Amino acid sequence: MSPAPGYATDFAERYDDWFTPPPQTTDATVTLLAKLAADAPDGPLLELGIGTGRVALPLAARGYEVHGIDAAKTMLDRLRAKTGGERINVSTGDFAEVDHDGNFAVIYVANGTFSELPTQEAQLRCFARAGQRLLPGGLFVLDAHVPEALATDCLTGAQPVESASGAPVLRTRRIHPATQRYVSDYLVLDHGLFQHIKVTFRYASPGELDLMAASAGLRLRERFGGWSGAPFSDRSSYHVSVYELPASA
Ligand SMILES: C[S@@+](CC[C@H](N)C(=O)[O-])C[C@H]1O[C@@H](n2cnc3c(N)ncnc32)[C@H](O)[C@@H]1O
Repeated sequence: MSPAPGYATDFAERYDDWFTPPPQTTDATVTLLAKLAADAPDGPLLELGIGTGRVALPLAARGYEVHGIDAAKTMLDRLRAKTGGERINVSTGDFAEVDHDGNFAVIYVANGTFSELPTQEAQLRCFARAGQRLLPGGLFVLDAHVPEALATDCLTGAQPVESASGAPVLRTRRIHPATQRYVSDYLVLDHGLFQHIKVTFRYASPGELDLMAASAGLRLRERFGGWSGAPFSDRSSYHVSVYELPASA
């Protein structure tokens, strides 16, 4: 069965309208990744769960060779149709396998997408395969919620989410500690019709992610409190973790 989530297969043509984060978030993501790439060995970048190219396209426009994997052909079709999309070399498949030719200076996964891998086994496999695809000194970068902050957020009820098209989007989150999952339900009012989109995630603490990384031969190089590059602290609700394959590995 394809691991492509329903929102990607059924709503790819509306994904950018409903779910694109604010432009300043994308700018910050691209800027931080470019800064990290400048410190990494020379080589291409690989995005896991590349989607419609929100991050990959501006990175490619800055001159980086960007590759990507996504399970949803529908999302990749949208990416290819955009200006610069033809420059991105994409594979269709489960990004937990990191099955894409080449070795990479930076492998990254953005917008909470790593947590879409549904089990610890799949997340571990993703770390292991990413480690095998990195050049010595290369980086594996992912973002995720801090579970304690997520639990608090789940108490706040429905929240409006800014959408690129201006369509009203409401999100509720439920957390299931027994299975280490959280579920986001989105209700979108689009052209007078309500659409319901449900996405299930498996969350992991920063410590669990670090252990998964260690089992793949990667070590934590830096952890930021978000794509802005702010320090990670007790007040951080989100993190961007940067793992490194030691150059001597
Ligand atoms: C939330 S979107 C983010 C897209 C893009 N990274 C961004 O930041 O705009 C997540 C993407 O990951 C893809 N995806 C989710 N699970 C996947 C899996 N196991 N293998 C491959 N792609 C997956 C979805 O199809 C979707 O395109």
